[in-house]
Amino acid sequence: MSETIIPIAGVIGSPIGHSRSPKLHRHWLKVYGLAGEYIPLHVEPDDLAQVIHALPKMGFVGVNITIPHKIAVLNLADLVTDRATLIGAANTLIFRKDGKIHADNTDGYGFIANLRQEAPDWDPAAGPAAVLGAGGAARAVIASLLESGVPEILLANRTRPKADALRAEFGTRLRVVDWVQAGNMLEEATTVVNTTSLGMVGGAEFRVPLDGLRPGTVVTDLVYNPLRTHFLAEAEAAGCVTVDGLGMLLHQAVPAFERWFGIRPEVTPELRAAALA
Ligand code: ATR
Repeated sequence: MSETIIPIAGVIGSPIGHSRSPKLHRHWLKVYGLAGEYIPLHVEPDDLAQVIHALPKMGFVGVNITIPHKIAVLNLADLVTDRATLIGAANTLIFRKDGKIHADNTDGYGFIANLRQEAPDWDPAAGPAAVLGAGGAARAVIASLLESGVPEILLANRTRPKADALRAEFGTRLRVVDWVQAGNMLEEATTVVNTTSLGMVGGAEFRVPLDGLRPGTVVTDLVYNPLRTHFLAEAEAAGCVTVDGLGMLLHQAVPAFERWFGIRPEVTPELRAAALA
């Protein structure tokens, strides 16, 4: 007797309770009328390898990977995409029918797709981009901005050596600026991105002086809790085109859902509402 196997996907992290990914994928499964499940999985680092190798045997077609496993999973994959290698982390695993584990990183894709959808006139080639922060999220942003044709990236981080290390890795189109000078680099930029956790609910305040922002500059914040950060509100008041960070989360899920469930889903206002519910 043959049995219909329902494809299962999920997200692996620790902690995992606050992940919005289940809401996104479940919304799409419902909207597109697909049989499938999406499950949050709390997994500790010591158990990661064992769990990942067991999942395909129980009907999993893939998983999203979040903190603290995004780097460690690279070593567990049989195949790592160029963009995941460049970013140095993976957020998506695909369990292929031939048994191979494929690791990808769709964060940079999500970042760019969000800007293109929310700021359709955005031209990456129009001028330098200014990036605040040099952590894991910054790597995806920098890799994708360079790929999109940004002529130069001005990069400032509180801990300067981390910015210097990114310059050494990503090359001469990066120019490192001291954190205390971060406000000055905004004058030159036509794209500005906050990749730090500053401005997040319950965290430290965003204090970079913003009087250098020019009208028309496309400004985006990876922080999406709150959705309208102090940084975005000030940028809007300065006449900038602002894009909130929730969209990056929504768009990064698109290629994964397509690979797992066979339909390329759309990022709609209904999806945003589902993510925020
Ligand atoms: P993520 O993966 O979200 O990028 P991360 O790798 O921990 O997380 O990076 C957090 C970023 O926010 C870093 O750039 C960090 O600066 P440092 O490298 O100096 O730590 C930045 N950040 C966090 N708290 C900050 C603060 N109070 N002031 C300035 N930058 C801060």
